[in-house]
Amino acid sequence: MSVYPIVLTQGTFKHRDSLNFPFEERGLQFGDGVYEVIRVYQGKYYLFNEHIDRLYRSLEEIKIAIPYTKEDFAELLLELLKKNDMDTDGKVYLQVTRGSAPRDHYFPENVDANIYAYAEPAARNIEMMKTGVHTITLPDIRWSYCHIKSLNLLPNVMAKQEAKINGSFEAIQHKDGLVTECSSSNVYLVKNGKIYTHPKTNGILHGCVRIAVEKFAAGLNIPFIEEAFRVDDIAGADEMFLTSSTTEITPIIKVDQDVIHDGKPGQITRKLQAAYAADANIAQFSEDVPVLTSKSNE
Ligand code: PDD
Repeated sequence: MSVYPIVLTQGTFKHRDSLNFPFEERGLQFGDGVYEVIRVYQGKYYLFNEHIDRLYRSLEEIKIAIPYTKEDFAELLLELLKKNDMDTDGKVYLQVTRGSAPRDHYFPENVDANIYAYAEPAARNIEMMKTGVHTITLPDIRWSYCHIKSLNLLPNVMAKQEAKINGSFEAIQHKDGLVTECSSSNVYLVKNGKIYTHPKTNGILHGCVRIAVEKFAAGLNIPFIEEAFRVDDIAGADEMFLTSSTTEITPIIKVDQDVIHDGKPGQITRKLQAAYAADANIAQFSEDVPVLTSKSNE
């Protein structure tokens, strides 16, 4: 099955086949909107409030008003899972655009935002999280407001495809040698027992899983340092990993030609993965670290 049949649109629930947006639509024509991808485990949202908060921050930044409070929107999103009897692992994609209007760069007046959300099954990629992934490095050619989860993903799409062409999973982007983030995930370097990652500026998306990782690191007494590392630091990294709602915490075992940690996920990455599983109340998969229960993480 791909998408669950019942879709949230303009505050109501409809069958996915009955949706039709006009082609003069701000999201379609200008990328004039924002989105979220929220993880669902066994029919329950993970890091739900973090995603809702970021959605509202993105909306405020691009001056789109919607007729719901955060609480109203959260209610609708919870209802979406119920309407679909969703009890599996999956994800919800939600999108808000400035609405449907004749094509004109100026904001249209008195036009409602287009809002929709749908759920789909998405199994955890345990194999990938166990073994790790290969990545490439690329210049970050994106704009100056990467903290907004904008629909304009062309540079991200180009970067991700470049990674694929090179037999890699992700592209690690950098501005003048300073690593920002991957094309659809945040990236981290571990050196001498400390985790380094780009500070939460406008240069990166402030990931929801990143918030969780910072919390796990504090719980594990691992320093979490918001300081960008350089592409040149990568060859000497002890460990590297990336995070996103769909990839959780995934080890990086190769960057361009540099093999990280002999091509094996490191202990800090493993501990964070275990903390994630405990926090999300999902299956542990790592045999080489002590299994944490959700209690031990409270
Ligand atoms: N991507 N950075 C970028 C550029 C992203 O697109 C994402 C998420 C992240 C990680 O954010 P979070 O931890 O909140 O998922 C970082 C989603 C999954 C996507 O576009 O599909």
